[in-house]
Amino acid sequence: MARTEASVTDAQASSTDFSRPLLAWYDRHHRHLPWRTPPHETLVGVLPDPYRVWLSEIMLQQTTVGAVKSYFEAFVEAWPTVEALAAAETDDVMKAWAGLGYYSRARNLKKCAETVAAEHGGRFPDTEAGLKALPGIGDYTAAAVSAIAFNQPAAVVDGNIERVITRLFSIETPLPQAKPEIRARVAEALPHDRPGDFAQAMMDLGATICTPRKPACVLCPITEGCTARREGTAERFPVKAPKTEKPVRKGAAFVATRADGAVLLRQRLPQGLLGGMTEVPGSQWTARQDGASDTTAAPFPADWQAAGAIRHVFTHFALELSVFRAELPQNAPAGDGWWSAPDALPGEALPTVMKKAIEAAIPGATKKRRKG
Ligand code: ADE
Repeated sequence: MARTEASVTDAQASSTDFSRPLLAWYDRHHRHLPWRTPPHETLVGVLPDPYRVWLSEIMLQQTTVGAVKSYFEAFVEAWPTVEALAAAETDDVMKAWAGLGYYSRARNLKKCAETVAAEHGGRFPDTEAGLKALPGIGDYTAAAVSAIAFNQPAAVVDGNIERVITRLFSIETPLPQAKPEIRARVAEALPHDRPGDFAQAMMDLGATICTPRKPACVLCPITEGCTARREGTAERFPVKAPKTEKPVRKGAAFVATRADGAVLLRQRLPQGLLGGMTEVPGSQWTARQDGASDTTAAPFPADWQAAGAIRHVFTHFALELSVFRAELPQNAPAGDGWWSAPDALPGEALPTVMKKAIEAAIPGATKKRRKG
């Protein structure tokens, strides 16, 4: 083995050759996930369905495995193939996505399914470049899908893998500047016979052993080559550039109800934040400290009563919404929106921020009722 030549220290050698002990660990301790094909199958050439891999990777962007599982199961039950998803009503897809956040993912998901169905005969391309040409697929997803679904030697790097690699090599460069260096380390270690299992093994290691706090180094299959473990500094990695504080925006949300309990909803414009999702009427969300949180932006005059305030943190700002509630007559018009009956409300395409606003005014209204 060329790597064990005198110019390379033992520690470096074991750091770069960590794929074998890692894969042996994965073979025994891999997580059972609904989109995954376990290693005893991939080892005999059975690969997972690219549609399921792609769907799971889109859902898992900025979202935890725990939050994704039930959404994934519901999606594949409703739309078992990419053709089925391509033929679905966009509105139904948005409803099924409601609560997962980052809604541009759902819009691109639908566009991507349509493109794969119409232009690729329902088959996902197997290369990173081919995948990246599709809507909503960036560097990370292209690498993950080509490695996991097609066993292509792609270097997959997500947040878990960044943590493992920066610890293994004590990379002091802060994120995000360290990304190219991390990627190069992953590419160097990539086992060309099992790139998909390697990517998932790294993810599992990061999620279950090499955790942000109190990593379980005694259980780690690659602890011997880990420089941070040796120096007792694991929790210091990854080093991150200092965060700038998020600006705060303010606004008001108006929950109008009818005597039968229906709530007035409307659809947001297709573009921009939460585009195409459902909302209660409200004001603009502005950085102004005055005016935005009162009833001046109410959609129509009514006896608006203050119903508390909610806070929601988006990627680029935190939002504080004052919530108002009014009861309207049973024959009140819906304007450009619609009245959503109590039974229908939990199934509407309401993003979490809107669920919070409605819950402030009518506790329990957005929760699914148990049958019987
Ligand atoms: N996070 C992102 N992709 C994942 C995957 N395929 N398995 C587990 N966790 C993930």
